[in-house]
Amino acid sequence: MILVTGATGRLGKPTVALLTDSGHEVRSLSRRPGPGVVVADLSTGTGLADALAGVSAVVHLASGANAHDSQQTRQLLRAIAAHPVDHLIFMSIVGVDEHALAFYRDKHLSEQLIAASGIPYTILRATQFHSFIARLFVAQRRLPVTVVPSFSIQPVSIEEVAERLVELVDAGPSQRVRDFAGPEQLSFRELANEWNVAHSLRRRVWSLPLPGAAGRSFSRGVHLASLPGDAHVTFAEYARTHAESAMR
Ligand SMILES: NC(=O)c1ccc[n+]([C@@H]2O[C@H](COP(=O)([O-])OP(=O)(O)OC[C@H]3O[C@@H](n4cnc5c(N)ncnc54)[C@H](OP(=O)(O)O)[C@@H]3O)[C@@H](O)[C@H]2O)c1
Repeated sequence: MILVTGATGRLGKPTVALLTDSGHEVRSLSRRPGPGVVVADLSTGTGLADALAGVSAVVHLASGANAHDSQQTRQLLRAIAAHPVDHLIFMSIVGVDEHALAFYRDKHLSEQLIAASGIPYTILRATQFHSFIARLFVAQRRLPVTVVPSFSIQPVSIEEVAERLVELVDAGPSQRVRDFAGPEQLSFRELANEWNVAHSLRRRVWSLPLPGAAGRSFSRGVHLASLPGDAHVTFAEYARTHAESAMR
């Protein structure tokens, strides 16, 4: 039995579907009840003992905003210590060990806690998901211009990340594995233009530098992986698919 935390999230849904399709028995963890769901809260630890009963591997995709990631990971590790599993797979983000963003620093702390826990583990870092980038453009759809930060990113298909996670579940504990990233590094301006072309939008794009230490980390590109990334789907392809499904 594989327990997936964050199963209801953007990455969790395709991961649960692919694990199930590839023959694994899957239990989804959420704070809300639903089909195939075990209710638990990683912030408090409530329900984790029941969630881990009979589980051999945990795919930990849940994420708390505002630097609560490591708090949730601590609760999970505490529960696993009482109900051991053979393999813990953790989803992290490229560059967390070098980035000034508080959320990334906390994600790095989660990595360190897992590596020091004695639990057999795999850590996969990925770049930013296509759907995460798209949210920035969708949120501005009623504005006359699209405002974006001035750095580049290397976005990745969430479905391809899910496929990689299934491979890693099957591979067994591998510690930190090669970063998983999209096929190209593009500026946010280029990505916004691709989004606008795909959605037949005529609008200007303004790019502004992101201030502060986090902005400097992004400008230095610590969130980028080497090229070419292992994933294949481009942001332009994602944007076209998104536009086509919005028309249906
Ligand atoms: N977004 C990106 O571009 C990106 C890039 C690289 C890596 N990642 C990492 O990939 C993972 C998945 O990201 P995502 O974008 O799919 O996340 P998401 O859509 O924001 O989903 C977050 C998930 O976390 C669960 N969760 C939050 N607090 C919880 C709590 N206290 N107890 C139990 N579950 C809790 C939620 O479950 P319920 O609401 O159902 O309880 C939800 O399923 C995260 O670790 C993220 O940091 C993201």
